[in-house]
Amino acid sequence: MIEDLWYKNAVMYSLDLETFLDGNDDGTGDFQGLNEKLDYLHALGVDTIWLAPFQPTPNKDNGYDVKDYYGVDPRHGSSGDFVQFMHHAKKRGLKVIIDLVVNHTSDQHPWFQDARKGKDAKHHDWYIWSDTRPPNYDEGMVFPGVQKAIWTKDEKAKAYYFHRFYEFQPDLNMDNLEVREEVMRIMGYWLQLGVDGFRVDAVPFILETPPKGNNKPHLTFEYLSEMRRFLQWRKGDAILLGEANVLPTENKKYFGEEGDGIHLMFNFFVNQHLFYSLASGDVRPLIKALKATKDIHPMSQWAQFLRNHDELDLGRLTEKQRQVVFEKFGPEKRMQLYDRGIRRRLSPMLGNRPQSELAYSLVFSLPGTPVIRYGDEIGMGDDLSLKERDAVRTPMHWSNDFQGGFSKAKKLVHPVIDKGPYSFQHINVDDQRRQPDSLLNWLTALIRLRKECPEIGWGEWEIIDTENWQILCMLYNWEGRSLYVIHNFDSEPHEIHLKRKPNGQTLKDLMVKTECPADKKGVHKITLEAYGYKWLRVDGKAKE
Ligand code: NOJ
Repeated sequence: MIEDLWYKNAVMYSLDLETFLDGNDDGTGDFQGLNEKLDYLHALGVDTIWLAPFQPTPNKDNGYDVKDYYGVDPRHGSSGDFVQFMHHAKKRGLKVIIDLVVNHTSDQHPWFQDARKGKDAKHHDWYIWSDTRPPNYDEGMVFPGVQKAIWTKDEKAKAYYFHRFYEFQPDLNMDNLEVREEVMRIMGYWLQLGVDGFRVDAVPFILETPPKGNNKPHLTFEYLSEMRRFLQWRKGDAILLGEANVLPTENKKYFGEEGDGIHLMFNFFVNQHLFYSLASGDVRPLIKALKATKDIHPMSQWAQFLRNHDELDLGRLTEKQRQVVFEKFGPEKRMQLYDRGIRRRLSPMLGNRPQSELAYSLVFSLPGTPVIRYGDEIGMGDDLSLKERDAVRTPMHWSNDFQGGFSKAKKLVHPVIDKGPYSFQHINVDDQRRQPDSLLNWLTALIRLRKECPEIGWGEWEIIDTENWQILCMLYNWEGRSLYVIHNFDSEPHEIHLKRKPNGQTLKDLMVKTECPADKKGVHKITLEAYGYKWLRVDGKAKE
């Protein structure tokens, strides 16, 4: 049954233990804290938790520098705490996916420490070495401006090792069968402990054999199929959610021609054009991006998102488009990062409630599975005084108590935001729970609505031309159900006309109690407020 594909209509919530809730008051979030908040997540209506890396780590890249794949960093608890958390999550019907960071390890990983001993070391070929400095050693850095090279000399090994990311993250050599077998062992381990899948970090780089000389890097997609096959043998309904910011022409290779590659991928292409459309008020580039990413196998799915734990990457826009987004959402240099992105949270970027609602309603209505990020449900802000992407990784605001209710410790892993309009005194869960019109309550209702509209995850969709390029109108059809989702990107109200439905059918507004009957000429006139949005279900049986 195709309906068994749970990921087609899931609502995912991404969180980092470190900054979610500190259960033992040592200043860092942990499983004990997360356990306390499972009811909160359940009541919010999300059904899948994506946990950022929590394995032992020197923590120089927010945990994306793993030094032991088979454990829990003591700051977050123990393996026992993990299993207990899984138990509690399952009791509430919550699925859990975890990060799989296997493009690279930490340089502190025992494998790398062994590899450095020289060519005869057991793990030497688990990494990628060059005796001489490759000519392209300073090209293709992922973090330009911060990262200086992709090949760095290791004095002990007397050779250069390859690293796509920071120099403390040596790339594993995927061309080595032993490494691929170890990756599967890691997957098997966590699947056995009950996880429902993996958010696969840096997919294109996992598949990459690094460029030598002037050659282009080579990508082996078979490695992805291998991971998928293994995953499915071990757990039939587990999923891979890929981080792959690639051009639409590459999508099929990742999803697999028969939908036998990665299950879901973050739609970075739509994400960037979405922000351009929000910034410019012109929906046409977003429509183009949606159409460019439309043709995927029925087994595959997009993960649609607004913000994540990294910078808002605008690298796929034209220079002109990027400048428009910078100007509107990140005008100051300190808000920008790596020459391509913005290191801000959603709410301060968008600046007001109507635009935030528009953005959320939009991302929940796009073809795919929505992923939200902790704190965005209450409109948390950022702290630009923190370095790089840490600006958007501050502790969750639970209440207006000491440290926003995150911890009783004086010193925290990252400081809470305690000044200005985005301080925890102004923005926190406790207050918003008790305000009927809060963003939190509004978003909770939106999640419920999304779950009542399975046609978004399953159905066919088309763009309805409203002859107005500030309005995005989409129509979903699935098993006799039809849904219009309409968004106004303009700061002025607009009216659009939809063709009359067959006799006996009306358009029912799913958010407010109104019907939108057709007028005498047979046209449904729909008014949208500034930044307004409507979800309209075609209702009733058509009469012959
Ligand atoms: C992508 C992750 O999202 C990012 O946070 C991390 O720095 C890099 N991969 C390296 O693991």
